[in-house]
Amino acid sequence: MGDFPDGFQFGLATSAYQIEGAAALDGRTPSVWDTFCRKPGTIADGSTGDVACDHYHRWAEDVALMADLGVDAYRLSVCWSRVQPDAGGAPNEKGLDFYSRLVDALLESAIQPVVTLFHWDLPQWVQDAGGWRRRDTADRFAEYAAVVAARLGDRVGTWSTINELFEHFALGHLTGEHAPGLTLGLADGLGVAHHLLLAHGRAVQVLRGEVDAPIMGITSYAPAVPSADGDHTAAQFYDVLQNRLFTEPILQGTYPDEVAALLAPFTRDRDLELIAAPLDYWGVNYYSVNAVRAVDRPIPLEVVAPAGYHLTDSGWAVSPSGLTDVLVGLRERYGEKLPPLVVSETGCAYADTIDATGQCHDPDRVTFLAAHIDAMTTAIRAGVDIRGFYVWSLLDNFEWAQGYTRRFGLVHVDFSTGRRTPKSSFTWYQSLIDTRS
Ligand code: FCB
Repeated sequence: MGDFPDGFQFGLATSAYQIEGAAALDGRTPSVWDTFCRKPGTIADGSTGDVACDHYHRWAEDVALMADLGVDAYRLSVCWSRVQPDAGGAPNEKGLDFYSRLVDALLESAIQPVVTLFHWDLPQWVQDAGGWRRRDTADRFAEYAAVVAARLGDRVGTWSTINELFEHFALGHLTGEHAPGLTLGLADGLGVAHHLLLAHGRAVQVLRGEVDAPIMGITSYAPAVPSADGDHTAAQFYDVLQNRLFTEPILQGTYPDEVAALLAPFTRDRDLELIAAPLDYWGVNYYSVNAVRAVDRPIPLEVVAPAGYHLTDSGWAVSPSGLTDVLVGLRERYGEKLPPLVVSETGCAYADTIDATGQCHDPDRVTFLAAHIDAMTTAIRAGVDIRGFYVWSLLDNFEWAQGYTRRFGLVHVDFSTGRRTPKSSFTWYQSLIDTRS
């Protein structure tokens, strides 16, 4: 499987709304996801994150599982509406206490906390004021970042700002498949993209003033191939939106030519300078290769599964070599401007069940993870500086619009009882971490 550089971190990733539950406890107010889940037809199984994995109560058990696994790092996200429940912006100590206890427990288990400030659960009060369509939401985000940094800044190992800006922009604001469920055209929607980028930049600025720890940006990548002969233009445009729209301004301070004119109405002097503030790590979330088809709709393209690939339960095409291509491609495109990389999420959904002996065997996940770690080591051997690999996810959890129908965990969760059962992939990852080979 290849060697891992000294200090290389094996980890896991989760996010607040997907695991915490306790949606109305200790002062937390609704986020856009709480609201969205209540609209009929939005979530495949009609579920919500009200209880999810009940991690808010079972966090000690979950930290113990991670300690047993032996991971070096755990990437979690903070729920903004737990920390600032209303428009007054006053910090909610009970919400902050939860994360403070969690961070302490991780450190006691020698697990480095990697904290993402925003993983898509915008407070409903921010949305009600206009959400990411408003420029000053970036200021609200900076204020929130300052509150979290003041409380956790002495202990967090690595900070990250916003998880996957592209998905939140595209699924939440163009296609309406995710909260807040908007279907803006591209001309308006790109305002959301710009404001997310500004929020990232403002948060980096705040964190630099408050903490000494490294800061990581996190975006997702998926190589885009045309679905059929006539789809080349659509695939190229999709590549601009997913793979370059957010990366280029952050890493080199420019918007891709293809969309620069559409972004001009939103962009003020020095915005791009702020957005391009230097980072310490660049997080790559990678799951699949996408095929793109041209369609006659306001957003003139659609993502479909490419032909000839094994598909996971999510219908996502398995392509380990796509990960190598993404990692090497970033290095080629951005050169010296690219900070050291972390594979900040990868994983797969399979219909894992508990068998008659009480075990959960998930050989397909082991195959998937082994192949993707191999693909990453290929990039390392090609000279790409990669510092970590985080599996999505610790637990089966609330997979957004798919509800509880997609299991991504190394640990099986029985959602009626909350019972956790480590899968065979857990044991496999444990031994990989232990032997580092
Ligand atoms: C990523 C998200 C994460 C999870 C995985 C499967 O795009 O960041 O929350 O849903 O997909």
